[in-house]
Amino acid sequence: MSKKPFNPFPLLSYRGKKYFCDREGELSTMLDHLQNDRNIVLYSWRRMGKSALIYRLFDELESGNFECLYVDFLATRSVEDAINTLTQALYEKYGKTKTGISATIQRLFSILGVTVGFNALTGVPEINFKVNSTAVSEHSLSALGQFLSERKKRVVVAIDEFQQVSNYENGHAEAVFRTWVQQFPDIRFIFSGSHRKMMVSMFAEKNRPFYHSAQLLALDPIPFEKYAPFIQGHFEARSKEISLEQIETIYQWARGQTYTIQLICNFLFSHCVKVSDGDIILVLDEILNQHQEMFGSMAKMLTKTQWRLFKAIAKEEPLHSPQSKDFLLKYGLGAASTVGTALKALERLELVVEEDEGGYIVHEVLLSRWMARLV
Ligand SMILES: Nc1ncnc2c1ncn2[C@@H]1O[C@H](COP(=O)(O)OP(=O)(O)O)[C@@H](O)[C@H]1O
Ligand SMILES: [Mg+2]
Repeated sequence: MSKKPFNPFPLLSYRGKKYFCDREGELSTMLDHLQNDRNIVLYSWRRMGKSALIYRLFDELESGNFECLYVDFLATRSVEDAINTLTQALYEKYGKTKTGISATIQRLFSILGVTVGFNALTGVPEINFKVNSTAVSEHSLSALGQFLSERKKRVVVAIDEFQQVSNYENGHAEAVFRTWVQQFPDIRFIFSGSHRKMMVSMFAEKNRPFYHSAQLLALDPIPFEKYAPFIQGHFEARSKEISLEQIETIYQWARGQTYTIQLICNFLFSHCVKVSDGDIILVLDEILNQHQEMFGSMAKMLTKTQWRLFKAIAKEEPLHSPQSKDFLLKYGLGAASTVGTALKALERLELVVEEDEGGYIVHEVLLSRWMARLV
């Protein structure tokens, strides 16, 4: 692990066990799945801690009998993009030796038809693909899998933001990946995604290629009883103070979302010795003000009805009956059918999500709190 963070509430990724709260249950479940040859689907709303948990798990696995590869599919739009991302990750992990590129990777790259060039500005090696057709894609995936399954240690591949695959323009990308996964039974896979509905339907609907092929694991908020002592402990370790009631306020305001809790604690830790209720109000204000410009530009991206509905949901959340007369009248939203269409659009943009209990909420906690302030 790299340098110790200055602030015990880091905001970017995983910075070591000491700064990572709980998830003991999830960790042991995941270890058990992997040690018994089961693949995992990890899903939750955004910023709940999926990626950090994967890194935390990797820490554990790498000190044992596994080798781990992490890839992020967020920016991928096609199977070719996905292969590119996988190849890049593989190259980062296995390719670099003191004298250049390892021989096994060179062999793999020649099968893939990949060339390594150098970025003219930075001098950093870059991978270029010569070829780009579907037939070749499947061949390339096989070659990548072959390489990984031939490693001495068992390999775990975590694919983050895997839901992207079902958006690829190639309609049967899911089937392509499913075949790939089946082809290499000794590679373990973790599929992680922040579109809960999409992830669940990919793995739990009968007519989908991935049906019943992995163990579903929902990542819920870290329980308050676990988070509170973690936060207090880090304050006390530096002779600072924060009360349980104050942590409760923060936890509620953040809807238990890990990122937002970390963000608020990071600020309070840097500003205060003994946190007062006034400090919390100031910090929440400061955080929302910092996002002003970004959130403000959202209004321009949406139609008038979408924006009005979005604001109304932020104020009402969880909203149970978006087409009820009372709700439409209260916010001057017009016809129920128009609101229905607008709601679908907001859901498609992942701005609004439907909770398991059936209420609609604004996906981003900070955005929700900011909008609820608007008139
Ligand atoms: N268990 C944890 N303890 C402390 N901080 C965490 C924990 N899990 C996640 N975080 C922090 O929360 C933020 C969001 O986590 P991330 O893993 O990026 O969420 P996701 O992948 O679900 O969108 C990150 O900044 C990370 O540092
Ligand atoms: Mg993530």
